[in-house]
Amino acid sequence: MAAQVAGSGRSAARAVPARTVTSPAATNTGAINTAAPLLRMSMGFAGRPAVPACHHDRMTVTVTAARALQGERADDWQRVADATKGFLPADEGSALRAAALSTGLSTGSGTWLEIGTYCGKSTVHLGSAAREVGAHLVTVDHHRGSEENQPGWEWHDAALVDQHTGRLETLPSLRHALWDAGLDQTVTVVVGSTQQVAGWWRTPVDLLFLDGNHTEAVALHDYAAFAPHVVAGGLLAVHDVFPDPADGGQAPWHVVQLALGDGFAQEAVTGSLRLLRKESTR
Ligand SMILES: C[S@@+](CC[C@H](N)C(=O)[O-])C[C@H]1O[C@@H](n2cnc3c(N)ncnc32)[C@H](O)[C@@H]1O
Repeated sequence: MAAQVAGSGRSAARAVPARTVTSPAATNTGAINTAAPLLRMSMGFAGRPAVPACHHDRMTVTVTAARALQGERADDWQRVADATKGFLPADEGSALRAAALSTGLSTGSGTWLEIGTYCGKSTVHLGSAAREVGAHLVTVDHHRGSEENQPGWEWHDAALVDQHTGRLETLPSLRHALWDAGLDQTVTVVVGSTQQVAGWWRTPVDLLFLDGNHTEAVALHDYAAFAPHVVAGGLLAVHDVFPDPADGGQAPWHVVQLALGDGFAQEAVTGSLRLLRKESTR
């Protein structure tokens, strides 16, 4: 008998997105240049003067020293992202990161918001991009997992069960990923439900990544609660978008349809990842 995802009215087989769980052994073939941070600093970005060439060596030393203090190597984010449990395939991670970088280069050093952290795979992609452009990433999750992560469901990982509570607990994995990638200063971790956070969130965001609960009610709630905070020219990224119900749950697809009517224009599609830009005319 097919189980139901609460609120979705769909069987598990159809409601649960056809995700690829990317294992630590997975390789990332993304072509993002990991030497870009220093290059970017020498180029400057919107609203900031380019760093004079004569300052480049000194800045290189400063940045390298800062990273050494965090125990980080320049290319660590990629290694950490690959090694972190999660649901973002390598090509989608690369596309998300590239779009985040270009957003940061045009909007400047603002606030980015991720809904749905899990163990931090997408957080490392986004956080490493935020660090490059001087943005700050806030990532929100109650860390107890979605319906499909609970025992008996397809995407349950018994290794993530906390012996103290007997519940799924992804926060320690996230903390390790951020530590390993040297992202503690770039990422603020908010532990709570999106319903809790929506009650007090007031900050404009340059980038919003929606990858939390995929039931219809919560996915629509998350869009309605946070999308209005996206600034003109800002990026909305939605994960697990499946136009065909045979491929996965429909809630993220419905979110994209809403966004297209709310002044967002679709910019790119990679796998189940949709990238939309908030038009500046509305
Ligand atoms: C698909 S996973 C996120 C995957 C992650 N972005 C990655 O790259 O692997 C969805 C996450 O949403 C979280 N979640 C589900 N319902 C939530 C809610 N109401 N508030 C906050 N987080 C929620 C779950 O705990 C889960 O970690």
